[in-house]
Amino acid sequence: MGPKVPGPGLSPAAVKGFVTTPYALYDECKRRYGDVFRITVPGFGSMVHVNRPAHVEIAHRLAGDDVRRGTGSLMEPVFGPNSIVVLDGDRHKRRRQLIGPCFRGLRLTAYAHTIFDTARRHARRWEDQPTLPLLPRLAEITHEEMIRLVFGLDDEETIRTLHEAIAQSAKRFRGRFLFIKALQQDWGPLTAWGRWLRTKEAVDAIVYPLIERTRAGLRDESSDILSILLRARRDDGTGLSDAEAHDEVLTLLATGHENSANVVSWCLLLLEQHPAVKARLREELDGCDDDPDQALQLPYLDAVVKEVMRWVPPPEHYRRLAKPLQLDEYTLDAPDVLAPNIYLAARREDTWGDPDVFRPERFLDGTFGGRQYFPFGGGMRKCIADAFGHYGVKMTLYALCKGWDFALHDPTRETPRRQRLSVVPAQGLRGSVRARA
Ligand code: HEM
Repeated sequence: MGPKVPGPGLSPAAVKGFVTTPYALYDECKRRYGDVFRITVPGFGSMVHVNRPAHVEIAHRLAGDDVRRGTGSLMEPVFGPNSIVVLDGDRHKRRRQLIGPCFRGLRLTAYAHTIFDTARRHARRWEDQPTLPLLPRLAEITHEEMIRLVFGLDDEETIRTLHEAIAQSAKRFRGRFLFIKALQQDWGPLTAWGRWLRTKEAVDAIVYPLIERTRAGLRDESSDILSILLRARRDDGTGLSDAEAHDEVLTLLATGHENSANVVSWCLLLLEQHPAVKARLREELDGCDDDPDQALQLPYLDAVVKEVMRWVPPPEHYRRLAKPLQLDEYTLDAPDVLAPNIYLAARREDTWGDPDVFRPERFLDGTFGGRQYFPFGGGMRKCIADAFGHYGVKMTLYALCKGWDFALHDPTRETPRRQRLSVVPAQGLRGSVRARA
């Protein structure tokens, strides 16, 4: 028997840190145990965190029979059994082959005006209100953007009803459900899980008719994401069933909008905390016309978003082993989870030189490979919409910073706190918004 992976294991402080303040926990683990450490969370299992480029590569190469569901099984109640994040092995591979090209082939500029207009419409409503929690407002923007882009909807009433139904359902899905399977029991509408199930039924009652309607009117030129998914064909000529399309659509709406809103919120906060970066970005934005098509080309905007995603990335992602794996001197056993630690990889001195300095310029001067910098994960489960996600964040930030000034209340008080699979400013980013002259 080889050496054991060091780490806090099942310590209550580590479990609490994992669930609430993962960055602080990971800094502490790296200081005490080094690059490879183990954390055990009841209901989720034993995770071995890695961040050295060679270890990250090993994790990202795992595929097929080497791994079982990553985060998938946890999310099954939310997204459904046909969601790409839940599928495993061959079924997952085939689904990626079916819908992956849809995302690679997206003509991103076709979505620019929808994102730009949605962000501006929302920001106008916030003007001159005394203090707002901005994070939930940003999530409303990115949610509406995603609803419009996924369904190609313009009808305000349907957009609002669907947004509210999904928001209600997300609110009722408590964080502890995610990690404690035993709580996922339907004991009727008076229990927390039962109440959540009823909100999910309300969402389905809107989404299934939208799928039917889209399928009935499917045209070659429709550029909404649902139409593109419904047109995709497997080798045998079959496409997504209604149930498959339903689960994929809910997955895209949820994963897409939440991650994007979080990144935009960190952008606003970090710009406030780094006036020189904000001034340089402003100069770049002011130098171009009020034209969303130009936003894709702006180098400093691109670098700022990349640096923000280095500074506050999704903390980690997961590969659950189906077979034992040799990692240097350690033998990991199934069903251990191998967790490439995105945060610690983004803080390595040997990769970044000055990792503790917020400096977007590093992305103007150089590029970083997928073993060093992977805010969208990697390998066979890499974010299916990485380019689209990056683009959406840039476009939303562009619309907001070009038109408005954000005065954040006490930006130094904000600390990173876990929200589901990513990390958000703990105070919800309180601030006020003024139109720029
Ligand atoms: C800035 C925004 C985003 C970030 C930071 C982000 C990050 C991530 C990460 C870290 C993963 C896990 C990758 C892995 O395990 O290797 C992931 C997976 C995924 N993301 Fe994103 N994402 C973003 C935006 C989006 C958007 C806009 C969509 C959809 C429109 C999306 C859809 C997905 C899906 C479907 C998966 C699961 C892929 C699979 O299991 O095969 N993401 N994302």
